[in-house]
Amino acid sequence: MASRRNLPSLFNRIWRRKFSALPQGSSSSSQELIGLEYDHSAHNYHPIPVVFSQAKGTSIWDPEGHKYLDFLSAYSAVNQGHCHPKVMQAVNEQVGRLTLSSRAFYNDQFPVFAKRLTSMFGYGMMLPMNTGAEGVETALKLARKWGYLKKNIPNNEALIVSCCGCFHGRTLAAISMSCDNDATRSFGPLLPGHLKVDFGDADGLENVFKEHGDLIAGFLFEPIQGEAGVIIPPDGYLTAVRELCSKYNVLMIADEIQTGVARTGKMLACDWENVRPDVVILGKALGAGVIPVSAVLADREVMLCIQPGEHGSTFGGNPLASAVAMAALDVVEEEGLAKRAADMGQEFRNQLKELQKQFPQEIKEVRGRGLLNAVELNSEALFPASAYDVCLKLKERGILAKPTHDTIIRLAPPLSVSLEELHEASKALRAVLEIDLPKMQKQMRKPETTSAPQVCDRCGRSAYAPVDTDA
Ligand SMILES: Cc1ncc(COP(=O)(O)O)c(C=O)c1O
Repeated sequence: MASRRNLPSLFNRIWRRKFSALPQGSSSSSQELIGLEYDHSAHNYHPIPVVFSQAKGTSIWDPEGHKYLDFLSAYSAVNQGHCHPKVMQAVNEQVGRLTLSSRAFYNDQFPVFAKRLTSMFGYGMMLPMNTGAEGVETALKLARKWGYLKKNIPNNEALIVSCCGCFHGRTLAAISMSCDNDATRSFGPLLPGHLKVDFGDADGLENVFKEHGDLIAGFLFEPIQGEAGVIIPPDGYLTAVRELCSKYNVLMIADEIQTGVARTGKMLACDWENVRPDVVILGKALGAGVIPVSAVLADREVMLCIQPGEHGSTFGGNPLASAVAMAALDVVEEEGLAKRAADMGQEFRNQLKELQKQFPQEIKEVRGRGLLNAVELNSEALFPASAYDVCLKLKERGILAKPTHDTIIRLAPPLSVSLEELHEASKALRAVLEIDLPKMQKQMRKPETTSAPQVCDRCGRSAYAPVDTDA
């Protein structure tokens, strides 16, 4: 059970006034808040039933004062840890001074942020947006425009190649590349101009380039597929992609929204093969979990294909977001979070692989890079339970994780996570597999038949089991 801090209310109030570090619980209970959300908000998510009321670093408190460890980091948006003091200071300093200018005018934060980001990642220019999906949209538009201006693709015929099993967000352009039927069915017509290739298959990519190369503006990919279940491509894949994109004059566009900003143990996951994409999309941790900040990075000859009036966003490049993003990058650099993610990630995988030896039936694979890791469970050994049920039990043991698909648990704590906290998570998973899972399986009624894996409507592959992916 998560550790309890249910103090009597009078004592609690006095204590809180004295010690501001103690969580200031909401006046509503978790149950009430979950009910309110269910009644008044669209049911487009399937959350683990825990209410975040306060957070610091890796720790989360619910309104009742139960403490949990965050092993999701808001889908890798909180690499720096929740409410990092340096980021909070930047918010406080900026928020009372200036929050929004719009790009109709200049402000005194964005130009400094643009210089900092481009020099940190080694690109000539950046284009600021807010959410990751907007960053993806921006990169796609940039690629098409580049295709028409620089590659002489006939107007309206530009193609984008993306990977089976990809996740690039929820906008129409992003779902037009998706193999997840839940994301695409009933939302058609999808955008034309997209071709698919298997992730990790460089030969397949070359075949597509050979067949359609003259019309292809960009190849969009995640260097590690996060939502698909932390799928790591074979060694040499990123290098091969770089070579093929250069050979066929196609923009190599890396979606590093989840993998970037130190998550995988390097500033970019593409750094693992020392590969430099033509376009990089960043988001999530660029805003340190405080404010949505995304950005597209490219060199001048690509970026300047976009002219005034052709693309933009009211909030993109706002001074508050810029100040937060600069503090977010400072923290990553000053605290050596890339190295920390690499070291801690290795240690965590060692622990999880030890666990796999003890539960060879239950754990099919442990994989990951840096602190983006996944434990894939065996569906037969889980049956009739699912990874979601395992996550419910992990929550009861104080660890917050979210499944992706029926059998995969993604484990991605803030990069400030301590060794003890990693041990706590492995210990909790051991207890769930040893004690809770057999109990759950006894209590659950077995369905007559198991659900068949979904076959993608468009590519015909079963990249997705019945889904529970909702980043
Ligand atoms: C690789 C990748 N691209 C794009 C997105 C979309 O980002 P956002 O939810 O901020 O729109 C995500 C979100 O999980 C992602 O993981």
